[in-house]
Amino acid sequence: MEEQRRQVRHTKDFAKEAADWIESSILEAMDRGRALVSLCGGGTPRPVYELLAKRTLPWERIFWTFGDERTVPPDHAESNYRMAKLALFDPAGIPPENVFRIEGELAPHEAALKYEMRLHELKEEGEPILRHDVVLLGVGGDGHTASLFPGTLALDEPSRWVVQNRVPQLDTWRLTLTYPLINAARKILFLVNDAAKRTVIDEIFAGVGDHPAGRVRPVNGTVSWMLGYEPAKA
Ligand code: 6PG
Repeated sequence: MEEQRRQVRHTKDFAKEAADWIESSILEAMDRGRALVSLCGGGTPRPVYELLAKRTLPWERIFWTFGDERTVPPDHAESNYRMAKLALFDPAGIPPENVFRIEGELAPHEAALKYEMRLHELKEEGEPILRHDVVLLGVGGDGHTASLFPGTLALDEPSRWVVQNRVPQLDTWRLTLTYPLINAARKILFLVNDAAKRTVIDEIFAGVGDHPAGRVRPVNGTVSWMLGYEPAKA
């Protein structure tokens, strides 16, 4: 079953193909009247967001959340919000009220609680949990995704949608969506554009190593992988 739900694409045209995938997934969601998209941070997605900003989309009906955020203010170089603002929100003229920013400048527990409450406003009547139409995720060299790092408490959060997560490896707090919320998504796309991550991705595909990214299993959705490097030689 797992295999059937995982779609893997290797591409030389990473940013364009990823932007194409996101654009078509957003347009698909319009049948339901709106698209709810969760953005990942780090360096990989920036060129994808820059291309996406040039597409013609019904921006006023697309709402943007974040899979995680660093505990920094919105104008900080490390801010995932700042990266998305420069690459996507500003160039596309996205209405600020359509962007749900994680307030990384607050105390971590407060930022997590506030964000969870804001996300509850987005939940549709009758749905037990907020379902994103698209969740974009990256993968770290250690197999982390969002800010779900190996050996951290957030990995075992059974019900909260957003938590503060102490990451000893980085000696910092992070804010992250949890598996319950991520796995409620209709479509999940992992974006990996670094051949140095091949081994960890292969381990995830093989189900070895217990990598956090490998625990992403949508309850009623699909997982796709956009890999910007060549498949291993057979
Ligand atoms: C973050 C991301 C994180 C990222 C991976 C990969 O806040 O850093 O959400 O999960 O996606 O660390 O980062 P790169 O794309 O920079 O390799």
